[in-house]
Amino acid sequence: MKKAAISTFCLVIIIIFLGFSPKADMPGPDTQKLWDYITQESPYKDWSFWKDHAGMQPGNAPHGPFHKVYVNEILLNATAVPVPYGSIEVKENYNQDKKFTAITVMYKIKDYNPSAGDWYWVKYSLTGKAGPYGKVQGCIGCHAVKADNDYITIHDIK
Ligand code: HEC
Repeated sequence: MKKAAISTFCLVIIIIFLGFSPKADMPGPDTQKLWDYITQESPYKDWSFWKDHAGMQPGNAPHGPFHKVYVNEILLNATAVPVPYGSIEVKENYNQDKKFTAITVMYKIKDYNPSAGDWYWVKYSLTGKAGPYGKVQGCIGCHAVKADNDYITIHDIK
């Protein structure tokens, strides 16, 4: 009887612990796992737009003439730079005819690349084929003009 009670107690503790362990399910720097995360586990289309950059917006090279930028809840709630680990931005890129052409992602991973804001950069095709990805110097070099805004160009965090 007592043993059963202890087992039950332990089980409950484990379940509570698993339930509250923070962001345990977020992917590491892995293009396939990140793709699965943003398309299935936490579909980015269910995320939010920043109020000052909602829906389809005109854009610049190299990303194409139009885009939509979705931000996850962690980033949406950020009020200071650097933004919290786990922040993700998914940018849908559209051509002149507003045809959806590619997806570019910024994902903030603890200790991934401390000299450049710990962002993991990925460009995906519409079917999830990745490249370039990682610590991409091209992405970093251009976004660095906004290093004081944690490399985010379209919305001022602070
Ligand atoms: C030549 C400069 C330049 C390069 C290179 C560049 N970007 Fe950007 N990026 C921008 C600009 C400007 C914006 C603002 C939106 C727009 O104009 O399209 C932006 C916006 C973004 C956004 C939306 C969030 C934000 O506000 O910053 C993401 C995500 C993004 N870029 C990812 C990438 C990735 C991934 C790469 C590399 C594969 C990359 N960018 C390369 C200039 C650049």
